[in-house]
Amino acid sequence: MIILTLKRQKVALIGDGAVGSSYAFAMMQQGLGEEFVIVDVVKERTVGDALDLEDAQVFTSPKHVYSGDYKDCQDADLAIITAGAPQKPGETRLDLVNKNLKIMKAIITPLVDSGFKGIIVVAANPVDILTYAAQKFSGFPKDRVFGSGTSLDSARLRVALGKKLNLNPQSIDAYILGEHGDSEFAAYSAARVGGEPFLDVAKRAGLSDDDLATIEDQVRHKAYEIINRKGATFYGVATCLMRISRAILHDENTILPVGAPMNGEYGLNDVYIGSPAVVNGSGIAKVIEVPLNDKEKAAMKASAETLQKTTKDGMD
Ligand code: 2OP
Repeated sequence: MIILTLKRQKVALIGDGAVGSSYAFAMMQQGLGEEFVIVDVVKERTVGDALDLEDAQVFTSPKHVYSGDYKDCQDADLAIITAGAPQKPGETRLDLVNKNLKIMKAIITPLVDSGFKGIIVVAANPVDILTYAAQKFSGFPKDRVFGSGTSLDSARLRVALGKKLNLNPQSIDAYILGEHGDSEFAAYSAARVGGEPFLDVAKRAGLSDDDLATIEDQVRHKAYEIINRKGATFYGVATCLMRISRAILHDENTILPVGAPMNGEYGLNDVYIGSPAVVNGSGIAKVIEVPLNDKEKAAMKASAETLQKTTKDGMD
């Protein structure tokens, strides 16, 4: 008789608000991770969500989903942190820095104390700064802590360009780089469609520079449009987090836009910022430096400076 001893993959979700619970639902739908523990200061909600989510396994795949505490994170492969005060209408992501840095500290300390040795992915805002803080507070290697970065913004750009070009957004290879926030920018010069430079395709489709600037601006402001109407954004980012989780749990070596630690790329150091990176079971295997034109290089530098200044003010 052959007895298979397969390791059960375990995910810890810290923060069971709208983003966290949507992420849990997405993970359930995709059958990712056999064990799923939910941690939140609002304990009753995690119990309710676990009870609700466990019913879905009958139609997807078996999963042990339960409400837990930091000690239950000890043997998790991956911790996804969505906990934090969300943006209110009119607030920027950077406005949240002081509140959410305190919350991040209160999370990382017991997470590390539990003996957790997995990968940390941060999604709470301002995500680049909180990711930087999570790495510092944890003392984990930089490749094992990263953020959702501009994954959602890049998805939004591909959706917008897909509409303009009447193409499946999955066929458009384009990135938003920089802060996940108001200083982000579209790296149009490096975008490709079917192997062709996007800027050539755009010209043929009659899209002017002004049109492209308008699209970039709409992408930058899409979260505000959503927050003004429904109070929060959650399905988009939850699905990005699911995609990142799949790349980790399946050890995929997939290039995804994330909030990546800079080690000389784009001339930047000591900052987490939106850039594509190779994601696998060890976290960030390699940061990919997108070739940029001079205007985009300057935008990347300015975005990094905004993040570094706000980080310094927040952490001092
Ligand atoms: C978003 O971009 C608010 O950061 C969140 O949807």
